Amino acid sequence: MDAKSQDARTTMKADPDGSDGEYDAHLDRSQRMWDRWSDWYSMSERDFEPIREELIDQLALTAGDRVLDIGCGPGVNFTVIREAIGEDGRLAAVDYSPEMVAKARERVERNGWENVEVRCADATTVDFDEQFDAAVATLSMSVMPDVRQAVENVYGLLVPGGSFAVLDVGTVSEGPLRVLNPLIWRFFRWYANWNPDGDVPEALGAVFDECEAARTYMLGVSYTRLCTKQ
Ligand SMILES: C[S@@+](CC[C@H](N)C(=O)[O-])C[C@H]1O[C@@H](n2cnc3c(N)ncnc32)[C@H](O)[C@@H]1O
Repeated sequence: MDAKSQDARTTMKADPDGSDGEYDAHLDRSQRMWDRWSDWYSMSERDFEPIREELIDQLALTAGDRVLDIGCGPGVNFTVIREAIGEDGRLAAVDYSPEMVAKARERVERNGWENVEVRCADATTVDFDEQFDAAVATLSMSVMPDVRQAVENVYGLLVPGGSFAVLDVGTVSEGPLRVLNPLIWRFFRWYANWNPDGDVPEALGAVFDECEAARTYMLGVSYTRLCTKQ
């Protein structure tokens, strides 16, 4: 294991449910896949940019806010968040892929942002000494090894009144195009190490006190949610 992988490993807590190796196997596969994709991420960054921006707008961030970015990848949300929170806010970002984290840190350094921290850790179990006013997860909750646990972790890291904005993907929920679901499922599994056992909207609805279905895109395959902790 190289030094960067060790970084992620040492920040990962024990398997949250103490079950067999499935959890770790999923994480290891994610790490390998996302390390590989980190060099080829510009297309996803560009194509989803307007959707990410629209979602982050809904958080109505203001100067000085503390924000958490879950599964931040190469830091695609940083500019928009940093513009909203300014120099006095704080952005903490988490990703499990050391290569993605390296790219995100390069972005931070390039821009000279002193109030942005990127941590190499499992977002399902990561802990901070502080709480956040808002959190965002774009295209990342559905690849977590335990989606419900990951949502609960974010909930615990938010202050009362804090909001969680999520952009994610799933299968077609209704209509004849559902025949495409096996293909969509396989594609996401191949491309993103999608977790077939995780239901992101269900977990968000179960854990958060309020959860609003904000928008859908691409025949409902991609969707956003805005959730609030009371
Ligand atoms: C599809 S990318 C999304 C990146 C970025 N948020 C975006 O909007 O493009 C999914 C990211 O989730 C990260 N990831 C996967 N499992 C994770 C985990 N357990 N903890 C933290 N990050 C994880 C991957 O390393 C990858 O960078």
